[in-house]
Parts: sequence; structure tokens; C-alpha cells
Amino acid sequence: MTRLNWGMIGGGEGSQIGPAHRMGAQADGNFVLAAGALDHDAQRGRDYAQRLGVAADRAYGNWQEMLAGEKGRDDRIDLVTVATPNSTHFEITKSFLEAGFNVLCEKPMTMTVEEGEEIVKIAKSSGKICAVNYCYSAYPMVREMRQMVANGEIGKVRVIVANFSHGHHGDAGDADNPRVRWRYDPAMAGVSGQFADCGIHAMHMASFIAGDEVKEVSADFASTIASRELEDDAMVNFRMEGGTVGRLWTSSVAIGRQHGFEIQVFGETGGLRWHAEQPNQVYYTPLGGRTQIMEKGEGGLSDEAGRLSRVAIAHPEGFPMAVANIYVDLAAAIRGQAHGAFPTATDGLRSMAAVHYCVESARSGGAWVDARPALLR
Ligand code: NAI
Repeated sequence: MTRLNWGMIGGGEGSQIGPAHRMGAQADGNFVLAAGALDHDAQRGRDYAQRLGVAADRAYGNWQEMLAGEKGRDDRIDLVTVATPNSTHFEITKSFLEAGFNVLCEKPMTMTVEEGEEIVKIAKSSGKICAVNYCYSAYPMVREMRQMVANGEIGKVRVIVANFSHGHHGDAGDADNPRVRWRYDPAMAGVSGQFADCGIHAMHMASFIAGDEVKEVSADFASTIASRELEDDAMVNFRMEGGTVGRLWTSSVAIGRQHGFEIQVFGETGGLRWHAEQPNQVYYTPLGGRTQIMEKGEGGLSDEAGRLSRVAIAHPEGFPMAVANIYVDLAAAIRGQAHGAFPTATDGLRSMAAVHYCVESARSGGAWVDARPALLR
């Protein structure tokens, strides 16, 4: 099967997420990096793209040049990944969808709910794929938990407790560092800091595993470092359409915690626990029974967990392979083949609504607020 042409915007040399996309997209031979506008500095972007093997005429200085250059080609890119800072996602994603390209956008998909609704509508009318990189949902053992819930193995889900809390912005003396400061500056980050950055991963995963959507939120946001306008710590209570109760804590001042993404799902007949720092294990406790540790790669897991496991039991895979699992299903979807789930623009929109309504709730003393975007009510 011929490889699909892939393009990337952002994710330049030294960026945080760029390498995971390059490893992920190219891991299975589905995609080849054919075009890129990789850096905010045009020359650095062109140089780096060529060092990665992109032909000189497709190593672009910016995304507008890339759109113009790719539009007219017979071998135009089949998928473009948008891995730039948040405030640029909307304009780039919209422009490429409107020009008939499939897009994988980094989270958060947009800065506002209105922009999110516009992307969902454009994706629908264009008939193109618009995916959002909630890559944690593609870990094999997260798929296993989702399947167990769908099979009724823990009964109806009563409570979900999620947290995504790290301590990497906990140093008040470093708060003015430009790499940290922008995340808490409304002009750069929008209405939310830590919740929009990390909390939405946890909230997406709660919906993904439960097979249900968030209906209402009540939030308490705090800027624990006084110079910050946006929150660096948030506690969000939520209720799902099916009645599940959710508790979500996200923080960037939790000194001592490294990554800190953990989810616990408590049903009527059992509980599940997964931690992103040990992604190969799920802890499962049946009601009245002992806790069992389920391992990625062992026999008896769901087809989905098996399909997305790459190396034998006990060998680590990790984050780039979770991203690769998103690309596997995108490749199949682009080729018109059967494929598994990947997060879409609708998930991106639900997150933007959650961000917006959590801010509204926090500003009104934690009042319960309907968290569903108008387009999906
Ligand atoms: P970063 O600051 O490390 O890198 C950003 C890259 O984009 C740099 O190479 C920069 O030169 C380039 N860039 C900036 N503006 C550009 C433009 N207009 N055109 C082309 N290139 C441009 O940022 P990081 O941490 O890699 O984040 C990028 C995006 O990925 C963010 O939206 C972030 O929320 C998301 N992200 C998602 C993660 C996930 O788990 N799904 C994890 C980390 C980041």
C-alpha cells in the first residue's frame, strides 16, 4: 500500500510535542513527512524540515505558504498536523479544512466555544476528517478500561475521580520566565490556564471511558501564585448525562508530582485505576474481591487493547506509541478502511465548552452550570 503524504505545522526543533508526532505518524509506515512549516522562524523551519528529509520546495517558511503550495499539487498532503501554540489552532485548522485537507489538531482545538462550533460545522460540510490529539485515550490499557465499562464488567459507573497535576510551575521565583508566564496570561492562553492545558485531557478521558458526556460543571479556580491572572489549580465537579458523578483536580503547583495524570472509575460492581506514568497496568478490583493488576500484552484482553499493543508483554511502549495509535486509525479512515475510534472535532468542541463553563462557574462561586455546547444540546 502506498504511503500517505503527511504535513506538519509547528512541532519544530526543540518543541515539546513535535517528536511524538514524528515518531507516531511514521511508526507504522502509513505516513511519510512530505511537507512542513515547522517553526515560527521561517528559516529555522525550512532548515529543520530539510534535515528531516522534506524536499526543499515543500519545506515552507510559514503555514500560509504551505497551504498555497500544497493546494495545487497532485501529490498534496493527505493529512496535516497542527502542533503550534494554542492561539493559532483555529485559523490554521479552519483554513486547511476549507481547502479540503484532513487535519489532526493539537488540544485545545480552539480558544472559544464559538470557534469550536465553527470547526465542527466546517469539518461536517467539507466531509474531511478533523481529529484532536487526545492521545492518552489511545493507550492500550485505557482502551481496555473503556471496553470493560462497555461490557458492564464494573456495572453502572457511579463515580469518576481524575487528576492531572504536576509541580513544574510551582516555583514562584520562576513565574516570570517567558516560557511559563504566557500560560497564565489571558492574552496568550485565553480564559483558562491549567484547566485548558491539562484538565481537558482528564475530562475527555472520563467521557471516553464512561461512554458518556459531561452535562454540568461546578468549578473552583485558584491562582496560587499571585502574579498569575489565570488559574494554576482547579477543582472541577461534574455530572454526566447518565448520572455519573465526576471529581477532577488539575494543578501545576503540585510540587513533587511529575506528570500526575490518573483516573479512577468506580462502578456498582467494581473499580478501575490507571496512571499515565505506569500506562501498561490497570488495577481492577471486583466488588468484594482482591485487587488484580492487568498488564498490557497479556492474554484475555479486549481486541482493541491487543490491536494497539506494539511490543511484547512487560516491554515499555509509552507516549509516542499512543500518538501512533491515533495515526493508525487516521490512516485507515483516510484510506476509507474500517478503523477504530479517534477523538474528533466534536470532542474538541466539548472541551472548549467545558473550559468556558468551568470559568463561568468559578466566577460565580462554584454554581452548577450546563456544560454542553449549544450545538450539541
Ligand atoms: P512548544 O512551544 O514546545 O513548540 C511550539 C512549536 O511551534 C515551536 O517549534 C515553534 O517554533 C512552532 N511555531 C510557533 N508558532 C508557529 C507558527 N505560526 N507556524 C509554525 N510553527 C510555529 O509547544 P508544545 O509544548 O510542543 O505545544 C504545541 C501544542 O501542542 C500546544 O497546543 C499544546 O497544548 C499541545 N500539546 C499537546 C500535548 C498532548 O498530550 N496532546 C502535549 C504537549 C503539548
